[in-house]
Amino acid sequence: PSLEKEFLPMYFGWFLSKRSSEILRKAGQAFLDELGSLKAFKKESKYFPSAIEDPKIKIDLTSYFVKRPPGVLHCTTKYTEFGKAAGAEEYAQQEAVKASYGKGFTLSISALFITTKTVGARIELSEQQLLLWPGDADKILPTDNLPRGSRAHITLGCANGVEAVQTGLDLLEFVKLEKAGNKGEQVGEIGGGKLLYFDNGMWMLVLSKKIDVKAIFSGYYG
Ligand code: 2AM
Repeated sequence: PSLEKEFLPMYFGWFLSKRSSEILRKAGQAFLDELGSLKAFKKESKYFPSAIEDPKIKIDLTSYFVKRPPGVLHCTTKYTEFGKAAGAEEYAQQEAVKASYGKGFTLSISALFITTKTVGARIELSEQQLLLWPGDADKILPTDNLPRGSRAHITLGCANGVEAVQTGLDLLEFVKLEKAGNKGEQVGEIGGGKLLYFDNGMWMLVLSKKIDVKAIFSGYYG
């Protein structure tokens, strides 16, 4: 009876195991290394000006995306801001959320992407996982109407001065282009899959073999 009212986390999400975090970090790193040495990418390096040392050799994307999440990686489902965010209480009270709290999941990574601001991994959520996905997340503009789960991602890094929230917005930009019929220009096959260029420094590697990562659904309290 003396307990305080339950308080909500900064965000809910899937938190990858240490091993899965390492595997995904490595895949992200390999992607940046390979992309930075690719001729087609170097031709478009003007979008990443601070990463250009010697454009004939390599664009250093690893030091371009300086802000990397410490510790284990995660996929945010609902940013609740300790209860202050719109829809926070409603989200936390859903049966699916309560029933899944502390449970293990396998998330499927279908692509890796970069923009001038962020690098991330795209997640394809299953029907069951979509039950934990908030109804209001898949929009940049209030009028956007994109498939549920379009924004599902794991932030791998951000450029100087960019906040992590940007990664999901960047992924939504790709989805909006896809929805408008822009499938990207197929640049070729690189390690791991098919590389697509969407202009404006937006690149996506569609993995030929999806990466499965293990994760626990939980809350982060800061
Ligand atoms: P991310 O999910 O793209 O990585 C703490 O800041 C975490 O909450 C980060 O993982 C961040 O982005 C996510 N986040 C921060 N602000 C957010 C917002 N307004 N909406 C959704 N996610 C947010």
